[in-house]
Amino acid sequence: MKAYQVTPGEGLAGLKAVERAARAPAAGEVVVGVRAVSLNYRDTIIPKFNYAGEAKPLVPCSDGAGEVLAVGSAVKRFKKGDRVAGIFFQGWLDGPIGPAETTAALGGGVDGMLAQQVHLDENGLVAVPHSYTYAEAACLPCAAVTAWNALFVEGGIRPGDTVLLQGTGGVSIWALQLAKAAGMRVILTSSSDDKLKRVRDLGADDTINYKATPEWQNEALKLTGGRGVDLVLEVGGADTLKRSVMATRYGGTVAVIGGVSGFAGPFELMPLLMGAKTMKGIYVGSRKMFEDLNRFVTAQKIKPVVDRAFPFEQARAAYDRLEAARHFGKVVIEVPA
Ligand SMILES: NC(=O)c1ccc[n+]([C@@H]2O[C@H](COP(=O)([O-])OP(=O)(O)OC[C@H]3O[C@@H](n4cnc5c(N)ncnc54)[C@H](OP(=O)(O)O)[C@@H]3O)[C@@H](O)[C@H]2O)c1
Repeated sequence: MKAYQVTPGEGLAGLKAVERAARAPAAGEVVVGVRAVSLNYRDTIIPKFNYAGEAKPLVPCSDGAGEVLAVGSAVKRFKKGDRVAGIFFQGWLDGPIGPAETTAALGGGVDGMLAQQVHLDENGLVAVPHSYTYAEAACLPCAAVTAWNALFVEGGIRPGDTVLLQGTGGVSIWALQLAKAAGMRVILTSSSDDKLKRVRDLGADDTINYKATPEWQNEALKLTGGRGVDLVLEVGGADTLKRSVMATRYGGTVAVIGGVSGFAGPFELMPLLMGAKTMKGIYVGSRKMFEDLNRFVTAQKIKPVVDRAFPFEQARAAYDRLEAARHFGKVVIEVPA
């Protein structure tokens, strides 16, 4: 069966198609015939740096969906033909996060989903919404679960609250759709006026071009009558963290998710402590959060925004599109049966 592999440290130049032997499932294992994979920003980082701490080649990508081809002995949760997706952290099923829960991350600590067949423990899978295509279901595991966790679990946001989102990538577009369906006001920033028009069509209440308005936190304060937003989903990192804290109301929360402009940099304490604000790290989420998300998107009839689906042979072009931030929403790679 066909798969891709990357070697941490080699960059995307090291992305290569390989043949791997198919095998029967071990006890407790499910063999998934992957039909679609979606890319996350993380998938562009792992090949460049030694993100997972080990330089051994691995199958990339956390997010994939497909059909159960076979189950090992003692498997109870799934049967042949079921439609499933892998969960990001294979060991985080429910309850609080901890070191044991985050050890096995698909496409990071362990082989991921960019392959025709993957073997996962039955506990490391969820059933996907019936109305979703495989391409749509492949958009759920990382970006959507992260947005869900940041908004409704750690963010503790309520209908009527104002949330600020950054950019038009996977996490932010999912967060826009979830937040609007849950009755929130959304302010969203982007580098592109065309993309800002598209987010207004998706329901964003107010938009700011962060290139044209580099001090966008002042605009966010103006838009909230000087009060500040209740919650920021911080994906910008080095260039945005300080501004996010400044844009947040007294007692509000900055959910620290990513660093598309860099993961390190100086930090000013005063705007945080003088406003008694909270900064909360977010690390994707548990299987329980994924299942809650699936119920919500089914009830609310929310479908992911698929930017573009690439054929398996053009996986590199899909990576390039994401890395250049030409996308809007999720970039998908289709996997042949
Ligand atoms: N902690 C976690 O569990 C977790 C989970 C998922 C993702 N992440 C992290 O979250 C970040 C986003 O991930 P993703 O997969 O959604 O990324 P993505 O799909 O690649 O989207 C990135 C988007 O960020 C926007 N952007 C770039 N520079 C920016 C800046 N200076 N200020 C504001 N926006 C900026 C761009 O949007 P425009 O083109 O509209 O400007 C770009 O399209 C990454 O750092 C990723 O590692 C973390």
